[in-house]
Amino acid sequence: MKVLNFGSLNVDYVYTVDHILVPGETQSSAQRNVFAGGKGLNQSVALAKAGLPTYHAGQVGNDGDGEMLLRVLDENGVDTSLIQRIDGPCGHTIIQVDKEAQNCILLFGGANRCISAAYRDQVFSHFSAGDVLVLQNEINDLPQIIDQAYEKGMKIVLNPSPFDAYLDQCDWNKIDIFFINEVEGAQISGKTEADDILDWFRANHPGALVVLTLGGAGSCCLKDGEVYRQEIVPVKAVDTTAAGDTFTGFFLKAYLSGQSVSEALALAARASSVTVSRPGAANSIPTLAELHQA
Ligand code: RIB
Repeated sequence: MKVLNFGSLNVDYVYTVDHILVPGETQSSAQRNVFAGGKGLNQSVALAKAGLPTYHAGQVGNDGDGEMLLRVLDENGVDTSLIQRIDGPCGHTIIQVDKEAQNCILLFGGANRCISAAYRDQVFSHFSAGDVLVLQNEINDLPQIIDQAYEKGMKIVLNPSPFDAYLDQCDWNKIDIFFINEVEGAQISGKTEADDILDWFRANHPGALVVLTLGGAGSCCLKDGEVYRQEIVPVKAVDTTAAGDTFTGFFLKAYLSGQSVSEALALAARASSVTVSRPGAANSIPTLAELHQA
């Protein structure tokens, strides 16, 4: 089984601020750091650090930032041979992180949003039935990518984040596993309580496994009509960026390796607690070996 993550690669410009800016405000930031990020890249790094054979597909621009993004994937054991370089800028973000470690993210798609049909075909020629496709909502052609993977008989994992109207064009009945947080869960279902969100999935996508993360309230998972729950591992949070991506990578590692849902939730909670205790995105994700040593 191979894991293909068809997703974004971003340069994250992270500004340390007293509080998240309000409309019309100007504020000096205490610090700026530049990290490799993107939900796609972060999840690939998490999948590989957790120990799954991971191939990343996606695009970088030729503005000089792409090499850093490829290097970070390479250094973390992700296969980058399918990544395409195109003319134009890479994707990037402007991220504010406040004193409480909360963040807000402004996203520019760049090369992530220039995926072509020819490139999709080339990527999928390397995969077959039984392989796993992992997706987020930071690239174009998501509906076509889902359809292509479904036709191949691949297992499809969707993290519908950031949540927006583009996701309506995707056939959610083709998704095997959803990863959502409480905000996305409310946007999708119109409900705010975790159990109500899971009920919505139970009614609308009864065959899917649903992992719902709830920030400080932990996480839960709906599988075959049953709900499994997991508390957080308490740590001093420094930066929550990539916590959800870490959760996705480590849950999938455990679950796809045949461990139970409860074991997968517990491993993912431990891994993401390490990520929030460190600044940055992909660089803050621990390895499986680190978790075993702790
Ligand atoms: O999930 C965190 C990621 O979201 C950041 O690395 C940023 O690039 C945005 O895509």
